[in-house]
Amino acid sequence: MHIHPYERRWIIFSFGLLTVFGLAIIVSNMFLGINVPGIADQVQTVISPAEAAAVPTGLRELGPGRYEVHMTAQVWRYEPNEVRIPKDSTVTFYLYSKDIIHGFKIPGTTLSSMIIPGQVGKMTYTFTEPGEYPIICHEYCGAGHHLMTGRVIVE
Ligand code: CUA
Repeated sequence: MHIHPYERRWIIFSFGLLTVFGLAIIVSNMFLGINVPGIADQVQTVISPAEAAAVPTGLRELGPGRYEVHMTAQVWRYEPNEVRIPKDSTVTFYLYSKDIIHGFKIPGTTLSSMIIPGQVGKMTYTFTEPGEYPIICHEYCGAGHHLMTGRVIVE
């Protein structure tokens, strides 16, 4: 079979590209600690809109340095929209929507999730650096989407 030299170069280039992509996945997973969330961390349970509306929101201390936050999202705010914790706290966020799909993202951390009506989002993170961490809604949710923010203050 005759393969034109240009074709051969493209075949080699394509395989080279696949190798680079494969190596990028391996390096980011094994050496940079970048992983997709496990299934257990994506969706915890199923919840009705009435149950979501009745969730007792807020911060709870579970033990030394361990907290959980139950947070609802609705157009266009989080409740609570400010969380204060000491440095080195491990916080598990439980996220509920009272109306439509919202987002929850804290830049510079691994915390990023959709907040889907009927489901409870669950994510855990340890805040080792003091400072103010903005929470932003990164799912378009209407006219006030850009105003939908909160913050985590690490003291
Ligand atoms: Cu809530 Cu965008």
